[in-house]
Amino acid sequence: MTNPDAAVDNSEILSRLLANGPPTHVAVIMDGNGRWARERGLPRRRGHRAGMSAVREVIKGAAEAEVRHLTLYAFSNENWDRPADEVGALMALLEEYAQSDRDELARAGIRVTVFGDRERLSATARRAIAELEASTSGGGALDVHLAISYGARGEITEACRSLARDCAAGVLSPDDIEPGHLDARLMTGDWPDPDLLIRTSGEYRISNFLLWQLAYAEIYVTEVLWPDFTRRELFHAILDYQGRDRRFGLVST
Ligand code: IPE
Ligand code: IPE
Ligand code: MG
Repeated sequence: MTNPDAAVDNSEILSRLLANGPPTHVAVIMDGNGRWARERGLPRRRGHRAGMSAVREVIKGAAEAEVRHLTLYAFSNENWDRPADEVGALMALLEEYAQSDRDELARAGIRVTVFGDRERLSATARRAIAELEASTSGGGALDVHLAISYGARGEITEACRSLARDCAAGVLSPDDIEPGHLDARLMTGDWPDPDLLIRTSGEYRISNFLLWQLAYAEIYVTEVLWPDFTRRELFHAILDYQGRDRRFGLVST
């Protein structure tokens, strides 16, 4: 595909998007690792490894673009049902990433948090994640949230259970329940909702990601497979977002 902006360098695009005011929160469904590998006659795990480099790239790009929150969908609840060798390779990569990158992330002022069902992770994966979170906890430039073993239906169901327990205990009346009560019980805590959702690999679906929080996100789908996603792609997605008319159900002014 020819890029009409091929002659424009990244710094020029960056200064344009900084002048427009970047989105506070960008969420990404990082998809297409398997197809990237297949196109090259490689095993799927090689696609996941290449995807790890794209994670590094997009984190740097988000920091440059002054995005405050970057949420990356790394592994879904449904992904547990993939073949055991692929799940094993993904978990090994996660541990490798957590160990190899934590010092550099900390130096760059990037705070990493992980959300999802940790109980399903191995003890070594849980430990690697805990160390990654602890090492980077002092960061304040960019918050990176990694969704691992995550599914939005499970998250919302758990929030409903928590509300039901409070009602049963008499500390909350069903008639007083507001959206904010549910919001507060989601794994995403007090982060602002995503402004922009990017999905790579040309798939037009949400795949059980942040169903509640994406209510008013702008959606950007690119054909680019995740391992090929660069900071330039991120900047283009943000520029596209900046051209949108976010109406939130109102009328344009
Ligand atoms: C995304 O790439 C990574 C994960 C879901 C863990 P895929 O592995 O889904 O790649 P495709 O969609 O098969 O190409
Ligand atoms: C979504 O991708 C999950 C992640 C990117 C981690 P999938 O490849 O699992 O989603 P589907 O199967 O295309 O819906
Ligand atoms: Mg996929």
